[in-house]
Amino acid sequence: EKETTLSDHVLAIDQGTTSTRAIVFDREGAVVAVSQREHEQIFPRAGWVEHDPVEIWTSAEWVISSCLTRARITASDVAAIGVTNQRETAIVWEKRTGRPVHNAVVWQDTRTQPRIDAMAADGGADRFADTTGLPLATYFSASKVAWILDNVPGARAAAEAGELMFGTPDTWIVWNLTGGTRGGIHVTDVTNASRTLLMDLRTLDWSDELLAVWGIPRAMMPEIRSSSEVVGHSQLPSVLDGVPIAGILGDQQAATFGQAAFDAGESKNTYGTGNFLLVNTGTEIVRSPSGLITTVGYRLGDEPAHYALEGSIAVTGSLVQWLRDNLGIIQRSEDVETLASSVDDNGGAYFVPAFSGLFAPYWRPDARGALVGLTRYVNKAHIARAALESTAFQTRDVIDAVVADTGRALEELRVDGGMTRDDLLMQFQADILGIPVVRPEVVETTALGAAYAAGLATGVWRDLDELRAHWREDARFEPRMPSDERERRYRQWRKAVSKSLDWVD
Ligand code: G3P
Repeated sequence: EKETTLSDHVLAIDQGTTSTRAIVFDREGAVVAVSQREHEQIFPRAGWVEHDPVEIWTSAEWVISSCLTRARITASDVAAIGVTNQRETAIVWEKRTGRPVHNAVVWQDTRTQPRIDAMAADGGADRFADTTGLPLATYFSASKVAWILDNVPGARAAAEAGELMFGTPDTWIVWNLTGGTRGGIHVTDVTNASRTLLMDLRTLDWSDELLAVWGIPRAMMPEIRSSSEVVGHSQLPSVLDGVPIAGILGDQQAATFGQAAFDAGESKNTYGTGNFLLVNTGTEIVRSPSGLITTVGYRLGDEPAHYALEGSIAVTGSLVQWLRDNLGIIQRSEDVETLASSVDDNGGAYFVPAFSGLFAPYWRPDARGALVGLTRYVNKAHIARAALESTAFQTRDVIDAVVADTGRALEELRVDGGMTRDDLLMQFQADILGIPVVRPEVVETTALGAAYAAGLATGVWRDLDELRAHWREDARFEPRMPSDERERRYRQWRKAVSKSLDWVD
């Protein structure tokens, strides 16, 4: 094995819902080069969402090599690799051939609702919440894996015989990156494992009881490692050989880490295909009566895990894609800001994008999308505006839950992710929350967090204080809307939400 020299760069691989990216960071945490490739979104039926795992791995190989080329560096300049990923999405593949037995069943997919309902009928929707921190929902991996084992002929027997492997996208990427069928390493990290409905939050190990309830053989489960330690070395001949893979975190936890929200009480909100607000609760497991979930924030080597409360919103940025792809009222996603800015307000329209039901804080699988308040006056610009505003209103829903659970008002909201480049949305977000919204210079915080975890484990960075010093503010949006106007609009939003509920029979 090659000896690692301490070089100046860390490579992050971000396997997201719509694309896979590779980003090279320097020692100051600045972006040196980025490469990105989208993959196909497969919708075989209403409510089903799949990805092709082979396409995902091919994209990962491509972005890794093109990113190194763009950065004008080679493997010997890379000190460590961090991996981050869309969470919950379930992939099952054959150990011997490396072939997936089915497409990846994506976190947004709701095909397993009947199984979830049957489970909830026998003990309630919170029957596993004490162990896992999660409500019963199609969102998490367990019912997706069970579905694959139940529906792919021969899969269950093969899984029991130890011939199949399960993994979230981090596991799939790391297994392939470390050699795949030639001895790839089968691991995940605590943050990803905490999204499966199969891990015990206290022991940080798979729960035998839960594996049995879902009928998932332990033999197919990856080993759970911390978020920051060397788990193996890359084996991509002539591209990236022998570099330690030293950080793995689910993308939302990675963004929290990249925002340097290391301490209890610190938080961030990421605007991606969905929105995910995480509040670090330190080494304490905090329960939410208000509809937030309890999850692992990060774990560094052998240190105690840090936990977090999370408000997960299924549809925010993907609503903009829907305006582009399904309605065709914009050409490119970024055009939504221009279209929405061409009118002064939403014209009375409210858009509740409950395409996968509603996640936090409602957890209502029976909800479906609703566009309400329409009059003859409403045009496509108002609809674009209502779509953008729905992101801000949904964020207000989860922040109200955070305040109720922690008993403390948030002083400001740190944001990141692609949609935060939209100043109109950021200003409206501040207006609807009544607190300042703060955007950092590096909005690629997901990849940065994975790079931080990898660099910490390999000596690129000394400690968390050194990372904290990298964080720099880019813009601050102060609330400008009078409070009675804010509350009036929020009341309208809540009324719109009530119209979206109870739709599915
Ligand atoms: O829980 C799902 C989340 O991890 C997906 O994030 O950024 O890929 O939409 P993103």
